[in-house]
Amino acid sequence: MSGVNEIRSAFLNYFAKNSHEAVSSSPLVPRNDPTLMFTNAGMVQFKNVFTGLEKRPYQRATTSQKCVRAGGKHNDLDNVGYTARHLTFFEMLGNFSFGDYFKERAIELAWNLITKDFGLKKDKLLVTVYHTDDEAAGYWKKIAGFSDDRIIRIPTSDNFWAMGDTGPCGPCSEIFIDRGEHIFGGPPGSPDEDGDRFLEFWNLVFMQYDQVTKDERVPLPCPSIDTGMGLERMASILQGVDSVFDTDLFRNLIDATSSALGRGPSGDDAASFRVIADHLRSSSFLIADGVLPSNEGRGYVLRRIMRRAMRHAQLLGAKEPLMWRLVWALVREMGQAYPELVRAEAMIEETMRLEETRFRKTLERGLSILDEKSATLKKGDMFDGETAFTLYDTYGFPLDLTQDALRNRGINVDIASFTDAMDRQRAKARASWAGSGEAATEAVWFGLRDKHGATEFLGYDTETAEGVVTALVKDGNEVDALKAGDQGAIVLNQTPFYAESGGQVGDTGVLIADGVRFVVTDTLKKAGDLFVHFGTVEQGAISLGDALALEVDHARRSAIRANHSATHLLHEALRQVLGDHIAQKGSMVAPDRLRFDFVHQKPITPDELRQVEDIANDIVLENDEVVTRLMAVDDAREAGARALFGEKYGDEVRVVSMGKAAREHGSNALGWSVELCGGTHVKRTGDIGLVSITGESAVASGVRRIEALTGRQARQALNNLRNDLRVVSAELNASLGDVTSRASAIVQERKKLERELAEARKKLAMGGGAAAGGGSSDVRDIGGVKLMARSVEGIEIKDLKSLVDQGKKQIGSGVIALIAKSEDGKGSVVVGVTPDLVARFSAVDLVRKASEVLGGKGGGGKPDMAQAGGPDGSKADAALEAIAAAIGG
Ligand code: ALA
Repeated sequence: MSGVNEIRSAFLNYFAKNSHEAVSSSPLVPRNDPTLMFTNAGMVQFKNVFTGLEKRPYQRATTSQKCVRAGGKHNDLDNVGYTARHLTFFEMLGNFSFGDYFKERAIELAWNLITKDFGLKKDKLLVTVYHTDDEAAGYWKKIAGFSDDRIIRIPTSDNFWAMGDTGPCGPCSEIFIDRGEHIFGGPPGSPDEDGDRFLEFWNLVFMQYDQVTKDERVPLPCPSIDTGMGLERMASILQGVDSVFDTDLFRNLIDATSSALGRGPSGDDAASFRVIADHLRSSSFLIADGVLPSNEGRGYVLRRIMRRAMRHAQLLGAKEPLMWRLVWALVREMGQAYPELVRAEAMIEETMRLEETRFRKTLERGLSILDEKSATLKKGDMFDGETAFTLYDTYGFPLDLTQDALRNRGINVDIASFTDAMDRQRAKARASWAGSGEAATEAVWFGLRDKHGATEFLGYDTETAEGVVTALVKDGNEVDALKAGDQGAIVLNQTPFYAESGGQVGDTGVLIADGVRFVVTDTLKKAGDLFVHFGTVEQGAISLGDALALEVDHARRSAIRANHSATHLLHEALRQVLGDHIAQKGSMVAPDRLRFDFVHQKPITPDELRQVEDIANDIVLENDEVVTRLMAVDDAREAGARALFGEKYGDEVRVVSMGKAAREHGSNALGWSVELCGGTHVKRTGDIGLVSITGESAVASGVRRIEALTGRQARQALNNLRNDLRVVSAELNASLGDVTSRASAIVQERKKLERELAEARKKLAMGGGAAAGGGSSDVRDIGGVKLMARSVEGIEIKDLKSLVDQGKKQIGSGVIALIAKSEDGKGSVVVGVTPDLVARFSAVDLVRKASEVLGGKGGGGKPDMAQAGGPDGSKADAALEAIAAAIGG
């Protein structure tokens, strides 16, 4: 039992045997916290359970949690590759007690696992406790039999764990192993504690407080336990290797990198292989959980990680994008424990390839600037922050990439001047992290959820029902009654009103009783599953305990249903036309329109759009029943149901399937389109009526959006188009059926007329006579040289040269100078010299004389033909005179 996958299972099984509920990892993007960038510990998904806001059906849990520590309070990005233990992505094994057992049992459970099941030797182990925590020290003595010198008291925040600036926290006790004198480092609390010899592998947090704001800390309702063991660290211990990068999983990733590159790690290169292996994991898991590289927030942290890896790939001599070619190896190693990785494989590859292809375009140039600007610097010198900013801004080098590149040479970046440059730019366009959701002020909903439980949703089957008012909220506070004119929120024990989620907007409608009418303008979900009706009391008063008749706006809801079902059809049709990488990035289902955002790197052609629309409408016309099933989430996925990446689903999920085509062909047991979805849908696909795509656009790099209408709206939009066509047909004096051929005939005719007009003008221009072409004309003899000088109008510049050639033929020997005045008053001049005279006169010199007069500069060409121009066409005659003078001179 020492492979990473086996250790994970052993840990979870041990705690399951000790009455802990095995809970799946939550996504890396936290759903329940607006302050946290990434899930950085196992306790994040239980945050509200610790504080008592949320109740779960168990008091003990165990998880293997995906964590990213890059960006935010816990940030290990800079260290990765250069130490034996730092990772940006890691798996945290944990056990949790929510007001159940506390310090003693936590220490006992941990001690038994590591010494009995994992077989670690007691004499290699030591622990830290918070300096004032006599209780924990006492239990370690009693349970492990440690003497005082093995229980190190730490007075700093190292032994007081906090999730972030706010949230549950408490003193902690960390377990270390001494890996022997051959590794540099001292015990915790000693000056050399940062070395790798004493490795911390398990942190037991005695959760006692909730940090509510920066300055306010309150006790938790019940003392609790949160622990975190680094799976990779434990694997390195059990596999007897000095570094996490030498464990089986990382070795396999590094081997895959070696074979992709055709070379193995050697000497200084080893760090690059480590960086690539770690960053491959963090980037892939982040993408699988719905993060895409961008220039702000989470997406920017992902981009930093990816680009850091890509620079190291380049250092290792990769000639082509490398990272995407390693994804399969990661999926092989971790796909079984994290099926989301398998589901997202195509999308991860595509995202990585695109990012690396883009970045490689500027990478080399950036690196050479970096080399140039740092060439004269020595160890201990500062690299100019302005240049670091240019590298960031123009070449896409995140600051940490520049720092990383200079780190081996002992050179630091001047952060102050980098920040100055950045601030200056930010002042122009500020885009910063703004949090992801619920604010702390939403606590009222958690309280209500606790008191009254979840709202029962009846709206899949009915649009009208009765409900009892369980809570009333006005201006963020609970109240006993709402009176006429009040704006407020109403919670009922049950409701047919759909609360906004999964892209579908909330329902509107009315809540009524005798003499009472509350108009619902929106319905939102709070605290997970509390349905809250927002609106205004139009008539009467509403008190707690009142029974109300609840009526959803039927027409609006019907339109929403059609749009939601159409969204599913378009999703599947897009996948069929564009490929399997199509992954939903978001959607908006409203009564009057729908839009669907998805990962795809190119614009969609009109032909592809038409195919998508045709396919979706074919399923509409089948008019097959829409079937909703409740299934275990794993069964649903196995049956091929499409889910939103990174979305957390309950154990039982709703699975909506449509279309019989595929069922008949046996490719999907459940239907043609099968999705996990909590939204409301039509009964039969025919209820959608018609799907009409109205737009296609880009919303972010690599994300496209299509917009569409259904049913009556689609028909109205098409009617409007037909009306426009009628107007056009009347204008063109053609029947509807003939409009297109008539329009193209007119366009052709117009082109022909334009050509003829140009020809006529040319003829007129060269036809002789003083006023030919609306301009002046003259052929004169200047000291035996014939000069044909004309200014013309309405002649395209491109035609001037052929006119000059024509002129040469007409006079046989001489100089031709033509100036065309354009409509905006500019002048273009072309001068030609016949072959017998080029030894005497250069067309280039002559044309320059003219262009000077026209207010222009220069002019160019060959001795026998040159052209120039100038802003002042009104000086055409004077310009021609200048040429005459030059010939005479
Ligand atoms: N939450 C604790 C940690 O992350 C266990 O170290």
